[in-house]
Amino acid sequence: MTENPSCLFGNRGKYAGRILSGRYSDTLKKRLASSIAHFKALEGMGAPVIPYIAAWLPEGGHIWYEYAGARLHTLLGFHTTEVAGAFRDNILTRCLYRIQKNPPSIDKIIRDKAQIGRLREAMRRMAERGGGVDAVYKFDVNGSPLWLKDLARVEIHDRDRVVLSYGTLIDVTKEMQLEETLVEMQCELESHRENLVTLVEDRTRELKKAQLDVLTRLTQAAAFRDGETGAHIIRMSQYCTVLGSSCGLSKSANTVLFHAVPMHDVGKLGIADSILQKQGSLSLDEFEVIKTHCQVGSDLLSDGKSTLLQVAQTIALTHHERWDGSGYPQGLVDRQIPLASRITAICDVFDALTSERPYKKAWRFEDAVDEIWRLRKIYFDPKLVDLFVKNIPQIKKVYQQAPMA
Ligand SMILES: [Fe+2]
Ligand SMILES: [Fe+2]
Repeated sequence: MTENPSCLFGNRGKYAGRILSGRYSDTLKKRLASSIAHFKALEGMGAPVIPYIAAWLPEGGHIWYEYAGARLHTLLGFHTTEVAGAFRDNILTRCLYRIQKNPPSIDKIIRDKAQIGRLREAMRRMAERGGGVDAVYKFDVNGSPLWLKDLARVEIHDRDRVVLSYGTLIDVTKEMQLEETLVEMQCELESHRENLVTLVEDRTRELKKAQLDVLTRLTQAAAFRDGETGAHIIRMSQYCTVLGSSCGLSKSANTVLFHAVPMHDVGKLGIADSILQKQGSLSLDEFEVIKTHCQVGSDLLSDGKSTLLQVAQTIALTHHERWDGSGYPQGLVDRQIPLASRITAICDVFDALTSERPYKKAWRFEDAVDEIWRLRKIYFDPKLVDLFVKNIPQIKKVYQQAPMA
């Protein structure tokens, strides 16, 4: 049979399909003829849809058209003699929208030209099983995009060994362009948001570093006046984190502790040199002045917005409190003393004992551990002392590795 493609596209009369002039049942021929008449009438009324009837064999092979609306040719601008081939070869993408029940959403499956070529048979089988097609095709027509929505109902005619697809195509270019614009805008927004997040993270990191720098200098200034060394502060922070992680502090809480502990004696900036650097023992009045370094330190670090400053303030105020209530400035007892300060108190005394000072020699490591143990329940939280002793290997590592200056 010679096909006359112009008739497939238009209403100029001549039929160019295979079924009406082939060896098929009268029932099928009748049904097809009435459908074609129906579609022609629909086109004649100027309906905004392009009807078509496609056919294929259940065993596979090329699709052919029994009928295709005239506007398909106009819209796609095909300069070819075969509708099916032209339609197939010009599709750029095929979108399938599926409603998902759990959770309710619309799933969009996009297949590109290469995938369509590979999956054509499978998609046709899926349409046969599902009884229809509901897809959107994208074409490139002279450099401009064209989208056609395809709604088709599939009928399998077992007796005639043919599958018919009654479909309508509708131009949805405007809607799809809007969707593409929205998706692009969403992508732009998303990348803009990601850039902003990175920028904020960078700035926050810089700010935290600057804040730590300032606090470190403040701490060094206080330590310098007191005759304490930077090495004492480094060792203390490390002892505290050994104890902190052993009593269950999270990694981030332990990091805060590590940076807050060095500021415990920052209040000594407010004590007169004549008392702070006095050689020999202090009078009771002078000791009372020394005791004020806790409140001074707390005032210096007050109103901090960051957790670091808030923890540092707590430690500055309460690191001389004692488990039995004999400490200062408030005489707090056992768990009234914040955990960070209970940890700091042990490590501060331990490092002071094991360090050399102008007025004393450094204690032996084991003697200092014994002293901490002796002060269990008197100065120090007994559970923390137990953990300190349990973690002697790590404590010793810090003791041996950190600079002793
Ligand atoms: Fe202190
Ligand atoms: Fe100290």
